[in-house]
Amino acid sequence: MPSLVIIGAQWGDEGKGKIVDALADQADVVVRFQGGDNAGHTVFHDGQKFVFHILPCGILRPRAMNLIGGGVVVNPTKLTEELAAIRLPESAWRRRLRISGEAHLILDCHLALDQAAEARRGSLKIGTTQRGIGPAYADRAARTGVRMGDSLEPDYFRARVKICLDSHRALLPKERAREVCDVEKVTEETLALLKPFRDLIVDTGVLLDTARRNGKHILYEGAQGTMLDIGAGTYPYVTSSHTIAGGVCVGTGIGPHAIDRILGVSKAYATRVGEGPFTTELHDATGEILRSIGGEYGATTKRPRRCGWLDIVQLRRAARLNSLDGLILTKLDVLDGLEQIGVCTAYRCGGKRYTEWPANPVDLAKAEPVYTFLPGWKQTTTGATIFQQLPASARAYINQIEHWLDLPVVMISNGQDRKQLITRRKVF
Ligand code: GDP
Ligand code: IMO
Ligand code: MG
Repeated sequence: MPSLVIIGAQWGDEGKGKIVDALADQADVVVRFQGGDNAGHTVFHDGQKFVFHILPCGILRPRAMNLIGGGVVVNPTKLTEELAAIRLPESAWRRRLRISGEAHLILDCHLALDQAAEARRGSLKIGTTQRGIGPAYADRAARTGVRMGDSLEPDYFRARVKICLDSHRALLPKERAREVCDVEKVTEETLALLKPFRDLIVDTGVLLDTARRNGKHILYEGAQGTMLDIGAGTYPYVTSSHTIAGGVCVGTGIGPHAIDRILGVSKAYATRVGEGPFTTELHDATGEILRSIGGEYGATTKRPRRCGWLDIVQLRRAARLNSLDGLILTKLDVLDGLEQIGVCTAYRCGGKRYTEWPANPVDLAKAEPVYTFLPGWKQTTTGATIFQQLPASARAYINQIEHWLDLPVVMISNGQDRKQLITRRKVF
């Protein structure tokens, strides 16, 4: 299938980076369409670990063109640092990277606003990554944002920066405002940072349309996850972009018919980082086991991730919101050795039973999971390269998930390495 979308089906950190990296060897184009450097996508490449924040995970593949779409928010300092960290020759990344002129910039004022807003919220904080994501998207919606393409005309850029900073100066403590809201300083420093990228600014929609007409393989790399979507997620404990498959169109400049297949990535259990409802969260020893065996610490902020059992009510919502054609199940190996594995098949709240997501946010916050427990397995799953090599109970677990969701599990990841991946169906 020439155009494949990979979406986080839970609350982010599902292993999208590993999957996109594994599929990227067949891709001509890899595209980020939303989010910013709040993302942390881990990839193991020739035994070396890379964590990508803004760059698409195909950047290390010589064959692939990597696009940052207009739905992405770009911090020029972080982009520069990330390119330096991957130690790719400049000539290589200049050949492989293109950025939409519509992508909005994250400036230092957005970081300051994010931090100030979180501090103000106190116990009601969202637990953001403090990367300035929310304020940058807020500026976009308020029409006070600064775009990548604005940097092509320095005078126009200065005028846009002024509009942006003028709207925030009074909201920040005086000292902080002096640091981050100086129009001349921000204009000069940001233009200098963006200089190397000026030639890389394109209309990604045109590029993708041409690639598609030429039969190229296009891989869309989602960031965050379905339940962090600004609309359909656990609002207000969400990020500020559309993380669901619909985000591909609005974030790159293509229409819905230009997508052929959509796959959701889900861990074999569930995690969440930051605040907000998480019905299947485990506060006991099993939660600790999942965190320590799964290495569940944020790739961007290093915060411990909250861990719990798989939630079918939540995944059913993800399947519908994204029109999923299939599921990719990751971190199956983390469940090795557990006596039994819980799966939430319904919620209970105030005498009511929910098999679909509760519309009432107060009910959602109070919902209790209804679990079915399935037998675990003693053997390791890590070495398996085909489905039939998995322990019988692991196969039964996967078959049961398929049954509950009415969705095929098309790939199974059983380790961090690129090769630790069982492909049951050709997806790309
Ligand atoms: P992303 O944000 O969705 O790309 O996921 P992250 O990179 O933030 O977190 C996923 C973590 O799980 C990373 O440390 C990956 O190396 C690791 N990982 C991915 N797939 C597997 C797997 O199948 N088994 C194990 N044990 N680790 C995995
Ligand atoms: P990847 O792409 C997991 C969470 C934050 C917080 C909420 C809002 O690696 O899966 P933000 O900084 O976006 O305003 O924070 O969203 N969050 C993520 N959680 N994985 C991510 O990205 C995330 N990006 C943001 O923890 O709860
Ligand atoms: Mg991550």
